Amino acid sequence: MELNELNEKLAQIQSQIENNLAEIKSSKGIFEYRKKVMDSKEGKIGSLMKEMGKLQKEQRAEYGKRVNEIRNWAQAKFDALDAKFKEQEQKARYAAEAIDVTLPAKKLKKGYLHPNTQVKNQIVDIFGSMGFQIYEGNEIETDYYNFTALNIPQDHPARDMQDTFYLSPEFLLRTQTSAGQIHVMESQKPPIKIISPGKVFRSDDDATHSPMFSQMEGLVVDKGITLCDLQGMLDVFVKKIFGEDTRTRLRPSYFPFTEPSVEVDVSCFQCGGKGCKLCKGTGWIEVLGAGVVNRKVLEGCGIDSNVYSGLAFGIGIDRIAMLKYGINNIKMLFESDLRVLEQIDD
Ligand code: PHE
Repeated sequence: MELNELNEKLAQIQSQIENNLAEIKSSKGIFEYRKKVMDSKEGKIGSLMKEMGKLQKEQRAEYGKRVNEIRNWAQAKFDALDAKFKEQEQKARYAAEAIDVTLPAKKLKKGYLHPNTQVKNQIVDIFGSMGFQIYEGNEIETDYYNFTALNIPQDHPARDMQDTFYLSPEFLLRTQTSAGQIHVMESQKPPIKIISPGKVFRSDDDATHSPMFSQMEGLVVDKGITLCDLQGMLDVFVKKIFGEDTRTRLRPSYFPFTEPSVEVDVSCFQCGGKGCKLCKGTGWIEVLGAGVVNRKVLEGCGIDSNVYSGLAFGIGIDRIAMLKYGINNIKMLFESDLRVLEQIDD
């Protein structure tokens, strides 16, 4: 065979490879085609060296050089295309596997503490930071602890202030956490500094009253306790609950177990005191009852009222929650409607 002929064959092979490569669209295709072309037995290029024997001796070096050239050419071609396809394929894979991190995450449903529990926890935190300890009283009380020991004897008109659920002539559902004051003063020596959260019960039912509601009792007994201490503590309390700008106002009131007794108002946190719907135009909102513990109550618990004095307050937890979160019907606090509860996460 002539070298010319072979050279022509090589040129043909080259252009055939070019044509075939133009059809291939993937690195896998390149891999397979490369195997086919380079195979030393059957490959178009791989088997070229076998033809060497057909040539005359002096032509063989030239032919060998040509075959090596075309082999190198093919290798380079395959390598380049392989790299190109691999890059494309990687890009495509990344695109297919891409995670859109800008997509808004699915919101996980979480539970909420009941507004009353939130307010209770806040009040406990505030008074806890002032050194108060928690006393958990009993929901079922005797007439003595709920009334008599609090200076409300049997025929006292103040009993009518709180319509009571009696369980028997002696036992009742406590109408006020104040009953706990007596247990504490009977069992602890001053100094006493407690708060007592809990449910209380009264036969009362309208938009702002429920037969069951929650109170937070506070009691401090020590030497030299005065109304000023009460005012100072309550000032801190309302600022933390309703905001730093909130002011307090004490109004004279009456409770049999405190003397003097006060009703505590806060400046309206909605209008700042100008007068609005929430404060009924007065600029003030009543939030709790309080006073200096009546000497008679101290003495009844065996505390010397010439040495010690005390202050007490009773906060309506539901009322604070309603004011704070704009709830206008106390029933909303007991219906467990998630649409309401979900909005209050303080
Ligand atoms: N126990 C009173 C009530 O339920 C509130 C109160 C508590 C008043 C402590 C004075 C002192 O209305």
